Amino acid sequence: MSKKKMTVLDFKKYKEEGRKFAYCTAYDYTIASIVNDSDVEVILVGDSLAMTMLGRSTTVGVTLDDMIHHIKPVVLGAPNTFIAGDMPFGSYQESPEQAIRSACRILMETNCDCVKLEGGANMAPTIKRMVDVGIPVMGHIGMTPQSASSFGGFKVQGGTPEGAKKLIEDAKALEAAGVFSIVVECVPSVVAKALTEAVSVPILGIGAGPDVDCQVLVTHDLLGMYGDFKPKFVKRFANIREEMVKGLNLFHEESVSGAFPTPEYSFNKAVDIPKLY
Ligand code: KIV
Repeated sequence: MSKKKMTVLDFKKYKEEGRKFAYCTAYDYTIASIVNDSDVEVILVGDSLAMTMLGRSTTVGVTLDDMIHHIKPVVLGAPNTFIAGDMPFGSYQESPEQAIRSACRILMETNCDCVKLEGGANMAPTIKRMVDVGIPVMGHIGMTPQSASSFGGFKVQGGTPEGAKKLIEDAKALEAAGVFSIVVECVPSVVAKALTEAVSVPILGIGAGPDVDCQVLVTHDLLGMYGDFKPKFVKRFANIREEMVKGLNLFHEESVSGAFPTPEYSFNKAVDIPKLY
C-alpha cells in the first residue's frame, strides 16, 4: 500500500503525538521514486547536491536555477512523499524581498511542499515575512554548511554553554517567526535534546543524537554511494557503491568475453540484408 503524504500540519501533530519519522535527500527522479517506495516520510532536495552530484567540496556555488532543475524531477518521482526544496546560498540573504522572490520561484516552478533555508535569529525577520505571505518554511541551524568556511570548516556547533544558549535562542526565534520544523545539524546530543524540548515544532536532527523528533541523512551517505568521505554521524545502512561496482565489473567481463548479449537480449528475427559493403 502506498504511504499517505505528510502535510505541513502533520509535522507538529507528529511531535505532539511523540511519533518519530525519517527524512532523507534525493536529487533526481529515480532516487526520488525509490524513496517514495520506502517508508521514509520526507525528502529534501538539498544543496548538498553540489557535493554528491556535482563533485564540489562545499555546498556553496549551486544556483537557484540548479536547485529548481533538480527539485522538478524529484517532485515527479515521489508523489506520496513530502518534499522540501533547499534555498541555495545567495538566494535569500540579501533581503526579505529577495527571499520571497526566490522561494516563490521554487514553489511555483517545481510544486514542492516547502522551502528550507539556513540561519537562526539573524534570519527570523526574513522568515516571518515569508511565512506571512504564505510560504511554508523549514529552518536549519547548528552547523549550517553554507557558512562552513566562516566556522573554519564542517565543525560541531553548540559545544560550549554560550554556543548552546545561542542555539536555543535561534530555535525559539525561528519558532516565533513561524517555521513548521527546524533542521539541527552537528550539535552535541544533549544540546539537541534541550532544543527538542524547548520548541513546539519538530527538530529534524542530522548528527544531533537520538533525542530529536526526526532523523535526517543524505541518501548517498546512508546507502553507501558517496565515497569521498564519511562524516562520524553517518551510518551506512547499505553498501550500494560496492554493489554498483560489482555489477559494472560483471558487465565489463561479459562484454569483453562475449558472454553478453545472449539471444535473450538480442533482436533475433532473420532478415535478408542487402549487400551494402
Ligand atoms: O543540503 C542538505 O542535504 C542538507 C542536509 C544536510 C540537512 O541541508
